[in-house]
Amino acid sequence: RPRVLSGIQPTADSFHLGNYLGAVRQWVPLQETHDAFYSVVDLHAITVPTDPADLRRRTRVAAAQLFAAGLDPERSTLFVQSHVRQHTELAWILICLTGMGEAGRMTQFKDKSARFGESAASVGLFTYPILQAADILVYQADSVPVGADQKQHLELTRDLAQRFNHRFGDTFTLPEPYILKEVEKITDLQDPTAKMSKSSSSPAGILDVLEQPGPLRKKVMRAVTDTGSEVLFDEENKPGVSNLLRIQSALTGTPIPELVTRYQGQGYGAFKKDVAEAVADTFTPIRERTEKLLSDEAELDRLLAIGAERARQVAEQTMIEVRDRIGFLPT
Ligand code: TYM
Repeated sequence: RPRVLSGIQPTADSFHLGNYLGAVRQWVPLQETHDAFYSVVDLHAITVPTDPADLRRRTRVAAAQLFAAGLDPERSTLFVQSHVRQHTELAWILICLTGMGEAGRMTQFKDKSARFGESAASVGLFTYPILQAADILVYQADSVPVGADQKQHLELTRDLAQRFNHRFGDTFTLPEPYILKEVEKITDLQDPTAKMSKSSSSPAGILDVLEQPGPLRKKVMRAVTDTGSEVLFDEENKPGVSNLLRIQSALTGTPIPELVTRYQGQGYGAFKKDVAEAVADTFTPIRERTEKLLSDEAELDRLLAIGAERARQVAEQTMIEVRDRIGFLPT
């Protein structure tokens, strides 16, 4: 079976619709066809200042949400990144293979560090994509299901794998990004040309998976929908409506042209009402299952310990070979 790996940061108290449609929703069917590894990447979360109590809570919430969204502990290996020390070990080796200029070209670092001012940003934030490369390569993943914002990190991962293989002999599988065009970039409801993002300035633009149906509906009804009144897919002139069409199409499985025909002459109101309904209907069962899983922390931690054990076994196999190829003495 081909292997799949992906990760999500525990940097908020809920995932949002972009995380869900762009990534997590694809993780579920992939566990049927692939040897699946999914990680809550807490080591990535601490690249920006993070409160320990928040991190602890959010890591459990993230794991519970992933199970609630459909990951099955029997079919997927779900684990917390810091439980598998091989990630940081491989990251160090890859850091030593990465050029400063190469790392400096990562646009996500430029965006994120701009928020602090580049000199206040941590070196960890700078090396973030290299740790991500280690996450992927240590499992010899064939495929990485992510949103469009991760493309550049996947390219770096492939470059580093090739460089290592070239210098030290064939060791790493070259991973392919797995990105679904229709949902690769879900945008902010209030600023529909910007990516929906945990760090967005206004919560009105973000739909959280764990949010109650009431606030979810309100946010969809208040979403920016451009001038005019026709429900049309036109990314250039109607980015807000186009985003809602993409969301509605993904959630209901109805092709966009069919939605456009359905709402012809009805204006935005009826359309938004249906989008709000689809979002609430999708999120409600996930929220309820998440709450249930969080009510038994010991059981959740037990599942994560099993995941970590399985992940460690695979990661250690890779590291035994890597250490030897680098020239480290056996222990
Ligand atoms: P993170 O935690 O920011 O986001 C998790 C996943 O959600 C996707 N995503 C989106 N997709 C579509 N539209 C959006 N508005 C949107 N916002 C977020 C992201 O592309 C991502 O797939 N660097 C990663 C975490 C990571 C990782 C890895 C991923 C660490 N190691 C190894 C894959 C493989 C990140 O920041 O994800």
